[in-house]
Amino acid sequence: MTSMLAEDRAAARPEIVTFDFARLSPRERYKLLIGAVVPRPIALVTTVDAQGVVNAAPFSFFNCLSADPAILALGVEYRPSGAQKDTGRNVRETLSFTVNIVSDALLEGMNVCAVPFEPGIDELERAGLTALPGSTVPCPWIAEAPAAFECRHHTTLGIGNSREIILGEVVYAHFRADTVDERLHVDPVALDAVGRMGGHGYASTRDYFDLPTLSVETWEKDPAAANRRR
Ligand SMILES: Cc1cc2nc3c(=O)[nH]c(=O)nc-3n(C[C@H](O)[C@H](O)[C@H](O)COP(=O)(O)O)c2cc1C
Repeated sequence: MTSMLAEDRAAARPEIVTFDFARLSPRERYKLLIGAVVPRPIALVTTVDAQGVVNAAPFSFFNCLSADPAILALGVEYRPSGAQKDTGRNVRETLSFTVNIVSDALLEGMNVCAVPFEPGIDELERAGLTALPGSTVPCPWIAEAPAAFECRHHTTLGIGNSREIILGEVVYAHFRADTVDERLHVDPVALDAVGRMGGHGYASTRDYFDLPTLSVETWEKDPAAANRRR
């Protein structure tokens, strides 16, 4: 049996560029990942410190990982000094955080919250956003957000010395009334969420379409239905 060396395989497929992640620097891995794993949803995360001082910061290493239990995940880097970001420190102190979904209307405020202010500065106030009291957690939620999820800390995964992954269980949610109907269908047009691309890129969700998943039977009868967008 003959086996191909990686170089031979690469020569056989010159249209493919390959990367051995073990040989890449953290910065190089970051560039490939954030450029290709797109669009990423953006959580504008509100927290409080032990004294109740409010903090807000955006995170696009963010997603919903489970509905039962309802788990949201954040990838929070440490500062270059190795210090925790305010968000990570506050979650450790209060075991809670709130995820505010970033809509197009919230984009400018979100970008103000990303400015690396000193700890103790209330980013929401700087951004002109309205903090409303949480129902089940000490963290406020943002009135201008189309949806907000109050989370209790579930688990923090220590995955190295440059970042941590924080899992929170959603215990309460606020939705602007026009974004959700009585059958709990969330209207993507009303939500108007924004996603993060690589670099400083963003993508809107205004190019929305439906594409139902097919049964085996439907696909066999009508393969073109796999790309019938509505
Ligand atoms: C759209 C966007 C997404 C971001 N995503 C992340 C992320 O996933 N993880 C992270 O550590 N920082 C991320 N940042 C940077 C943080 O928001 C930034 O470091 C912020 O100042 C942290 O604030 P804090 O110290 O108040 O927690 C992102 C910034 C922007 C603008």
